[in-house]
Amino acid sequence: MVSTISPRDVVLSELPDAELLVTAPGRVNLIGEHVDYNQGVVMPVAINKRIWLAVKSIPEPLLKISARDLEESVEISLNDLDAKIDIHSNPLPLWSLYPAAIAWVLRAQAYPLKGIQAVIASDLPMCAGLSSSAAIECAFALAFQNLNGWSMERMQIAQLCQQAENHYIGVDCGLMDQFAVLHGVARFALYFDTLTLEWQPIPIPAEMMLVIANSGKKRELARSAYNQRQQECRQVVSELAKYDPNVRSLRDISLPEFNQYSSLIDPLLAKRARHVVEEIDRVQQAAVSLMKDDLVRLGELMRAGHHSLRDLYEVSCPELNFLVETAYTLAGCVGARLTGAGFGGCTVNLVHKSKTQAFCEQLEESYKKKFSIELKTYVCQADRGAYTEKNKKKID
Ligand code: GLA
Repeated sequence: MVSTISPRDVVLSELPDAELLVTAPGRVNLIGEHVDYNQGVVMPVAINKRIWLAVKSIPEPLLKISARDLEESVEISLNDLDAKIDIHSNPLPLWSLYPAAIAWVLRAQAYPLKGIQAVIASDLPMCAGLSSSAAIECAFALAFQNLNGWSMERMQIAQLCQQAENHYIGVDCGLMDQFAVLHGVARFALYFDTLTLEWQPIPIPAEMMLVIANSGKKRELARSAYNQRQQECRQVVSELAKYDPNVRSLRDISLPEFNQYSSLIDPLLAKRARHVVEEIDRVQQAAVSLMKDDLVRLGELMRAGHHSLRDLYEVSCPELNFLVETAYTLAGCVGARLTGAGFGGCTVNLVHKSKTQAFCEQLEESYKKKFSIELKTYVCQADRGAYTEKNKKKID
């Protein structure tokens, strides 16, 4: 039976004496994939699928967290975060590494940190490439900030969560996900420059919905392949720097300049770099198209972006390719592409409101016919970023 109780109510009923409620959204990226760690520009959107956290401080130096949807609980000592084990010396379950990572990075930077008890529930699909990990990180960072009474700018919180992910989890991710989770604006896409950290919200036309299609394909190789792509980008930069010492990242090189040098570098590395350099250019064009309400052009750019991820960056898979090509044949769809790191996970589709139901039904049916897998679709809108609420019902 499908639960009709909202995740907010679930966490509150589990921890009625919580001091604080925290909620953080997932994100999709409209365009600008695998460019944030190359200092490029991206265009993510926070979505109305969110994780919720009810939380209170406790006197013991522990993180006592239960994940309601998974029916799992864990107790982690704040004094033993390096070991990645619970208080009974069992390895931490994957989901709990994220709150531990935030506590670890805060401790490393000497922020005061009290123990907490927390309950998590969510309607954001986990491990689907919709940034559930960044949502958990950012929610815990806001919880710690509020309960311990120190202040920090949102961009700095995003960077702190990124460091936690890089150094504790071991994924060399860029800043896009944590940025989007913390800066989301309802009804707007976020044009974000990962070099200057400047950003601008761009309205999404009211008649368009974001349809997310979850391929159900597990992203097992994602972590190692993701780190490998990063490594390849670093290698290209050091090769290109031999010809032009001003090149410190792939952001520093324009498309005409890249075309001059591309034959001088290893062909595989040249393919990777071409994706990044062209994708940055596409994001800039996409921002202009969205501002001008030119959805046809935006759709073309999204499609070109997907093809580049498939052919040059090689992070797609047959399931995602099928979903994207099928989407473009369906009424009401203006743009479709894989979203997030790839290797499975989800596609994002920009679909006219009046056509979303038929779009979802047809996409689900075609996918089932082809792969014998149930496709899950979610009709979403751009939503606000993470925020906190005092628990008004708490009885002192
Ligand atoms: C993951 C990372 C992001 C970004 C995308 C690919 O979501 O966390 O930083 O690199 O992949 O665009």
